[in-house]
Amino acid sequence: MRPLREIRGLKYPDEFIVRHFFKRGLSQRTGRVLELGSGTGNNLSLYGIWDWDCTGVDYDEDALADARFNLGDAPTFVQADLSQSLPALEGPFHAVIVPNLLCYLTAAQARACLGALKAHLAPGCEIFVRTRLVDDYRYGRGEEEEPDGFRLDTPETGEAGLFNLFYTEAALVGLLRSTLGLTDETVLTCRFDNVQAGQLVPNNSDVIVWGAAA
Ligand SMILES: C[S@@+](CC[C@H](N)C(=O)[O-])C[C@H]1O[C@@H](n2cnc3c(N)ncnc32)[C@H](O)[C@@H]1O
Repeated sequence: MRPLREIRGLKYPDEFIVRHFFKRGLSQRTGRVLELGSGTGNNLSLYGIWDWDCTGVDYDEDALADARFNLGDAPTFVQADLSQSLPALEGPFHAVIVPNLLCYLTAAQARACLGALKAHLAPGCEIFVRTRLVDDYRYGRGEEEEPDGFRLDTPETGEAGLFNLFYTEAALVGLLRSTLGLTDETVLTCRFDNVQAGQLVPNNSDVIVWGAAA
């Protein structure tokens, strides 16, 4: 891994990825971890430091190039559009993390993607998902294309023209139970204000769900 000051893109893992990793004892063992929507590799860097075998999937060529620059040759990075299908993957995985991705998929795409993922999970696979709640700032800001799903009109968040789907805690837990066989889940919420493009973006609202696959 590169020295921190040379890292491209986000420098640190998501704070809840860190909490999940240590609270669930993932620093005490190793295995294969898969991140969907892995960006520039900031979350996988944590697993890599603790000797996990890392695989990331993203559709953004530039983000993948930065991830390879940041993390080197050891991880596997796959370019794929998860709204279309899950790519071929070398599982089984002992941890699957899906932070800040599901909001960009329609309900049908999310169900298909997670449904296909089930076959790649080792028994007891750790599952982590973070996504936006229905009381997030962005909800309703744009054209509604499906229930709780909007084509965003929010240049201030850098997401104008992107589709966003918002979940309730119950809807997300139900989805993860039915597609991945999630059991024994922990559900947390995170509400915060942010500054983006020099503008205050209040009332960001996320749900974090973690647990184990049956
Ligand atoms: C908000 S970033 C999150 C990055 C990282 N997971 C994190 O938590 O810091 C969302 C990532 O998902 C990727 N992404 C969005 N839609 C996608 C799709 N349909 N297929 C694959 N990757 C997608 C983006 O390219 C981006 O890297």
